[in-house]
Amino acid sequence: MRRFTSLSDVQWSAFRNPEVFEPDYIPEILAFRDAQLRALASNLKPMLSGMNAVDTVCIGPPATGKTSCVRKIISSAEIRAGYVNASLVRTRSELATGIFKAVTGLTPPRRGVSFSELMGRAFDSADSLLIVIDDATALNEKILNEVIVYVCRMKEMGYKAGLWLVFTDSRYVSLLSADTGSIFHPDEVFFHAYGYDEIFEILMERAKAGFSAGAFGEDVIDFATGMAFETADLRLGLYILRMAGIIADREGKERIGVDDAEKAYEKGKWLFLTRSLSNLSRDERRLLKAIYELDAETTGELFDEVRDWLYYEKFHRMLAKLENLRLIDLKLEYRKGRTRRIFRRFERDVLLDALERVSS
Ligand SMILES: Nc1ncnc2c1ncn2[C@@H]1O[C@H](COP(=O)(O)OP(=O)(O)OP(=O)(O)O)[C@@H](O)[C@H]1O
Ligand SMILES: [Mg+2]
Repeated sequence: MRRFTSLSDVQWSAFRNPEVFEPDYIPEILAFRDAQLRALASNLKPMLSGMNAVDTVCIGPPATGKTSCVRKIISSAEIRAGYVNASLVRTRSELATGIFKAVTGLTPPRRGVSFSELMGRAFDSADSLLIVIDDATALNEKILNEVIVYVCRMKEMGYKAGLWLVFTDSRYVSLLSADTGSIFHPDEVFFHAYGYDEIFEILMERAKAGFSAGAFGEDVIDFATGMAFETADLRLGLYILRMAGIIADREGKERIGVDDAEKAYEKGKWLFLTRSLSNLSRDERRLLKAIYELDAETTGELFDEVRDWLYYEKFHRMLAKLENLRLIDLKLEYRKGRTRRIFRRFERDVLLDALERVSS
């Protein structure tokens, strides 16, 4: 390592294009997503000739490229789209405000404008309108149903529109009311979790685009891939690469080593655990706490412990979410019914400590 004497010493950097590692960067090629991109493009196509877009639901676990694919398709077409991330809105008026802003580029005229007035204005501002609600799982059930029914009704009234929703699992159907289910028949586009080799290739391509020539070797990509695969979170792999580059730069090295990637992982693993915990509702955290505190070995035993505050269907929905976020694993038991064996993916103390921190 060279000794630092002045700013001019910091000429070499591990990064050629640092923006490649930014969370909102959309790579030119979304590898292994050709089928999904084609499905979205063909569902959007009718709108380009003045018809309704095909209503679509994108389904897949976290970090499987849902947002990237949807954003790529809507930004490549000349259409009016109201894209809103539901995890950033709590009320129906916030949702309508988000859609209105995204469609018109304007701030709503005054506070307290009603949902239907704002939505009506958004629809009136364009010949046709695609509404995209990302992370729709985060939306309150009632609001979700309301917005679906609203868009369907607008179509019945002759407006040209489409509604795309993004969910992390296919149990979204249970969130829809009977009324909504009878009028909303979306095309479902599935985003499978990436395998080890797929993650390796995605991370390798990012590294080639973002790092300077000769700044990294396959060993670093291998390490980041292992961690991303283990936690089923491609974002952790991207974080490790970016952070390892920053650490190598900071230490004046001319090549990122696996030791830098390991340090990056140590920093990142807390961050990622805390982030996924902060996406849980109060009841989901309570259930997760029960799983890690109590010694229930199967979902049946666990349900006996929590049945005084949780009904059966909701219990299973919440378990599916915890499994999806890779906080627990569930393996089918052939003994009886829906009972599955519970595997805790984190050490008890580590998880309970992190839960305490996000809840305080
Ligand atoms: N096929 C791919 N090729 C390159 N990068 C990808 C690919 N899929 C995902 N990524 C990258 O992984 C990260 C997560 O992707 P994205 O945000 O699209 O996932 P998501 O499915 O919307 O996740 P979540 O459900 O958590 O919102 C982004 O940085 C994205 O660029
Ligand atoms: Mg997303």
